[in-house]
Amino acid sequence: MLNKDLEVTLRKADKNQLKAKPDPNKLGFGIYFTDHMFVMRWNRQQGWHNAEITPYQNFSLDPAAMVFHYGQAIFEGMKAYRDSSGQILLFRPTDNLERMNSSALRLCMPRIPVNAVLKALKALIYLDRDWVPYNDGATLYLRPTMIATEPVIGLRSSEEYIFFIIKSPVGAYYAEGFNPVRIYVEDTYVRAAPGGVGAAKTAGNYAASLKAMTEANKKGYSQVLWLDAIDRKYIEEVGTSNIFFVIGDQLITPKLSGSILPGITRDSILQLARDLGIKTQERRISIDEVIAAQEDGSLREAFGSGTAAVISPVGELCYQDRTIIINGGRVGDLSRRLYDNLQDIQRGRQEDVHKWLVRVG
Ligand code: COI
Repeated sequence: MLNKDLEVTLRKADKNQLKAKPDPNKLGFGIYFTDHMFVMRWNRQQGWHNAEITPYQNFSLDPAAMVFHYGQAIFEGMKAYRDSSGQILLFRPTDNLERMNSSALRLCMPRIPVNAVLKALKALIYLDRDWVPYNDGATLYLRPTMIATEPVIGLRSSEEYIFFIIKSPVGAYYAEGFNPVRIYVEDTYVRAAPGGVGAAKTAGNYAASLKAMTEANKKGYSQVLWLDAIDRKYIEEVGTSNIFFVIGDQLITPKLSGSILPGITRDSILQLARDLGIKTQERRISIDEVIAAQEDGSLREAFGSGTAAVISPVGELCYQDRTIIINGGRVGDLSRRLYDNLQDIQRGRQEDVHKWLVRVG
């Protein structure tokens, strides 16, 4: 059931519960959490109920809660930005919440009432507005999450859920910041297969990626680039983002095949590139094509795109025993242009022609 008029109770933290704010220049990523969170519960009889904005606090869950056993857990990543006048802006929040509903459908979880959740999210951010960083490199990262809480260990979908939103002031996702990252092209492990859950933002996809990521980190690479599960040659996505290549005069990204995440940033980059008159292609692209393009000099740039990573230039790929240096290991012109373009929109410095921004407060 989708309760359109969700009643949200507000329980503010006492003054003595308020936390000290971290240094905005040393935020890291996802380490600090704000004073308040949003929580609501679902069961078959009541639908979504007990919606509250509360002080940030622990949950108490039965050890049999289904999320611990069968991993019904989905989440989203969004950000709140400050514009130059100090106003707080959200970027395409409805698209994220709708994507959460697509993930919910795939994982047999209940859909959230998007408009009511957006309203509660805005109230939540406004309450913790002092946590939204003012400095350009920093934002308030928002993490809507849903978990299965019914205490039953027979395998079926849960009949009880908690949905919550926590918020974390963050700096750049990668230690490299906007500098190019080195990426390992993974040809042993696979992230997702056709018919699987690759297009859903579900916790298990990230758990399954850790082994490959850890091995890549040990070899000195920041992330892995996943290949498809069948032919092991078509490019899918990076561990934390979608991927783009500039080959000749084309901006190319793997098409949404069902096994990659339909990124909101990915979609925004495609739109911004088209606005700039750049030719875009969403299609299958193999690692062999990337290598051939590097050999004939037509591979000009590569970058990842995601909410956390924003645009993250790729300076080097390692595939089997081959090293592919991209644009001399430097940030490419188009990567820089799209990054500036996207940030300028998100920070209200450029006209929001696509009506992507939602004001808080
Ligand atoms: C995001 O980009 O928001 C994500 O959820 C990726 C995560 C690994 C930080």
